[in-house]
Amino acid sequence: MSTRIKTIGVLTSGGDAPGMNAAVRAVVRTALSRGMRVMGIERGYNGLLSGEVYEMNLRSVSEIIHRGGTVLYTARCLEFKTLEGQQKAADQCREMGIDALVVIGGDGSFRGAKDLAKLGVPCIGIPGTIDNDIACSEYTIGYDTAMNTAVEMVDKLRDTTQSHDRCSVVEVMGRNAGYIALNVGIATGALAILIPERPYDLERDIMERMAFTQKTGKKHFIVIVAEGVGHAQELANEIQSRTGIDSRATVLGHVQRGGSPTLRDRVTASTMGFHAIDLLEKGIVNRVVAVSADKIVDYDINVALSMHKTIDTMLLDVANTISI
Ligand code: ADP
Ligand code: F6P
Repeated sequence: MSTRIKTIGVLTSGGDAPGMNAAVRAVVRTALSRGMRVMGIERGYNGLLSGEVYEMNLRSVSEIIHRGGTVLYTARCLEFKTLEGQQKAADQCREMGIDALVVIGGDGSFRGAKDLAKLGVPCIGIPGTIDNDIACSEYTIGYDTAMNTAVEMVDKLRDTTQSHDRCSVVEVMGRNAGYIALNVGIATGALAILIPERPYDLERDIMERMAFTQKTGKKHFIVIVAEGVGHAQELANEIQSRTGIDSRATVLGHVQRGGSPTLRDRVTASTMGFHAIDLLEKGIVNRVVAVSADKIVDYDINVALSMHKTIDTMLLDVANTISI
């Protein structure tokens, strides 16, 4: 082994995502295969500060590839956002002999990793969030599972919506991003999809479309609203009072964050975890692992955090044309 990195730490941080376990498993087993020691850090940056750390072996990650959530637990850590907190975390790494850190999480977690890197702790980020909102990567671990869960839920809602000739307004996750809403909307044939990236017009985007489809014989309606747009209940009330159509709001919520990861999430997590250790073994540090054109790539962490990703609004055109 040519690397100077002998011991790595691995943590999961921010909102959990199905497939994080598969990523932890890949990180641990690849690192062990390269002769590195692995320290599992519990509850994100909190565990680094409080010393909730244990040495992992091959069997520490048995029976987890198919499980949602994260065996390392996750958390948000306010103290770590301060310079004092970050200095303490860097000192903890040095005391525990952690030469480099693998951070599985969203861009908030990567901002933390960037700060730690500045304080001399080399880091690698692996994108894990159901929202798919990490700019440098076309794909984030958990996104596929979350969307499939949401589709399954909306399909169930459709049955009752159709039976009662109702309108269902369904809120899916995505505080700042409409990726889940857009794809779930297309996959469930939603009449309208509201996303934070594109301001909506109630008249044009919902009322007129409902009126048109009613004329063609449609009697039940699904409207998908991203969490970042919100107000599902108000929207349902408004639709009901303006159209007379019995309307219900459903917020899918955290059910979308759980469950067994899909094949795509397991494979992406496994290859990203492998790639992260490959980088560390080569002495390449302070990178974010990403997917670009279906390939696993990596970017400098500062570059990664300065990148922007735009939603493909062509998908809205597809939805508006077909789901009518
Ligand atoms: P995510 O990683 O899913 O985007 P958060 O934004 O909640 O989730 O970030 C997770 C944790 O990362 C925070 O609780 C905090 O400890 C750390 N973090 C977030 N933003 C920053 C920042 N700007 N600087 C340093 N650390 C941060
Ligand atoms: O980042 C994923 C996400 O599920 C967002 O879509 C959502 O806004 C947020 O996490 C909710 O997180 P929590 O309830 O854990 O604060």
